[in-house]
Amino acid sequence: MALANRVSRRSLLLAGGGAIAGMALRPIGLWAASGILEKHFVAAPGQASLAGPSYPETAVWAYNGQTPGPEIRLSQGSRVRAVVKNQLPKDTTIHWHGVRVPNAMDGAPYVTQPPIQPEESFTYEFAVPDAGTYWYHPHAHSPEEVGRGLNGAFIVEEPEPLPVDRDIVWVLGDWRLEEDASIAGGFNSPMEMSMAGWVGNTVTINGRVPDRFPVRGGEWIRLRLINAAPARIFGLEFTGHQPLVIALDGQPIEPHPPDGGRVVLGPAMRADLVLDMTSRPGSSTPVTDTFYKGLAYKLVDLAYTDEPPLRAKPLAPPAKLSPNPTPEPDIANAQRHEVTLTGGMMGGMGMGGGMGGMMGSGAMWAINGVAVPGGDMAHMKPILTLTRGRSCILAIDNQTAWHHPMHVHGYSFGVITRNGRPTKYREWRDTVLIPPRERTEIAFVADNPGDWMFHCHILDHQEGGMMSVIRVT
Ligand code: C2O
Ligand code: CU
Repeated sequence: MALANRVSRRSLLLAGGGAIAGMALRPIGLWAASGILEKHFVAAPGQASLAGPSYPETAVWAYNGQTPGPEIRLSQGSRVRAVVKNQLPKDTTIHWHGVRVPNAMDGAPYVTQPPIQPEESFTYEFAVPDAGTYWYHPHAHSPEEVGRGLNGAFIVEEPEPLPVDRDIVWVLGDWRLEEDASIAGGFNSPMEMSMAGWVGNTVTINGRVPDRFPVRGGEWIRLRLINAAPARIFGLEFTGHQPLVIALDGQPIEPHPPDGGRVVLGPAMRADLVLDMTSRPGSSTPVTDTFYKGLAYKLVDLAYTDEPPLRAKPLAPPAKLSPNPTPEPDIANAQRHEVTLTGGMMGGMGMGGGMGGMMGSGAMWAINGVAVPGGDMAHMKPILTLTRGRSCILAIDNQTAWHHPMHVHGYSFGVITRNGRPTKYREWRDTVLIPPRERTEIAFVADNPGDWMFHCHILDHQEGGMMSVIRVT
C-alpha cells in the first residue's frame, strides 16, 4: 500500500465547462472557483442489517436507504448543494454540525427555516471554510429522528493531505434494540430525560455491530471518530496502542496523547486520531469503551493480518495540521457572559436547581433559567445578544449532577478554562462536554451574524428544555 494512498475523490464534481448552472451568478471568489458538490438526500423509512446476518433487519429511518447516510467528502473551500426530500412521517431538517455555514443554511427549525414537512423538499447550499471532520443530522424531533438512524459523516479534506496510509471514518451509533433487532422506542421517557438520557444497548460502527477491524502492522491510520449517538458518551481505549489526537471537532490541535489514554467523546463530538499500528502481525487487540463506571464493553478488535509490517521503521509523528481560518478572540477585551445549566435528577433525590415545579410541562432542564422543550422551539427568545465582530467569553456553569455536551451552532470556539484552570492545549471545538459541577469558559469572535442555537447534545436533554438561542447582530 503506497504512503499517502488517498481516498477516492470521484464524488467531487469539479465545476467547469458550464456544467453547473448557476455558478456564473455568484461572484467568483476563492471558494466558488474550487468546485461544487451536489448531493440528493431522501429521508425515509428503510431497512438496515445492524446486528449482522443472524438477526432480522431493523426498520430504521435513513438517508438514501442507508444509515449512516451517504458520506459527504469535499475539499476545503469548495461548495456543497444538498437537495433534501422528506419522506418521513414527521417534519425534519438537516443541520451541518460544526460547519460554519451562513445562518439561513443551518437547518435549525423555526430559527433559520420552517421545518421541511413530509413530501416537501429544501435545498441547502454553502461553502466549507474549514477542513476537518463534521457530520450532519436532522434537527426536528431529534431524539427520535437521530435515534432511528438519521446521521452521516461530512468530511472536509485539507489542501495538503496528512501523510498516512489510510483515512478511516467511524460513525459511532447507539441503538436500543429488542431481541428481534427491532428498535425498542421509548423516546422521550421523562425518567431517562432527567438523567443520563436515552443510552442504548447496541453500539455500531458505520451502521454495523463491529467484530473485527483488519489492520496491517506498521501502517499509519488517520481515524476520524464521530459520536452520532443520541445520548451515549464514549471513552475509548486502544489497548497496546498510543493514539495521537490531531483534531477535535474538526479543528486542528497540537498532536498529543489523549488524557489518561482515553478518547472521550460526548454526543456530537469528533476526534481525529493518528494510530501507528505497532502490534505484531497476526495479533488482535481490543478497543474498549470504559466511559460509564461498571458498564465497560469491547467495541471492536483491531485484527492484524499475517503480512509482514508495512515498514521497518516507524514514521516521524505527524506535524500539527495547518490551522483553519477561525478568528482569534481578544481575551482581554472580550464581552463576558454567564450561562447557567440547571435541572435534572439529583442522583434520584428529586429535581435540582429549582426545576421541581416544571415536571408537568415536559421541561426538566434550563439554560439561564429558561427551559425550551422540543415543542416550543418556535417561541424561543435569545438568551444572549452578542455584538457582531466582538470577542466574547461565555462562562458556562454546570450546576447539575450530569454531563452536558454543549453545542453552539455557526461557530467554533476556544475552550479556555475548566474550573478556573487554563486548558493545556489550544483546544477549538463546537461542542464541549461539561462534567457535573464544572464551570467551563469558551471564547470566540462573534463574526457570523444570525440567531444560533445553543443547546445540550444529549438529545433528550435538548428535548427536555436544554435549548436556547444566541443572537449575533
Ligand atoms: Cu448537532 Cu443543534 O446540533
Ligand atoms: Cu445535557
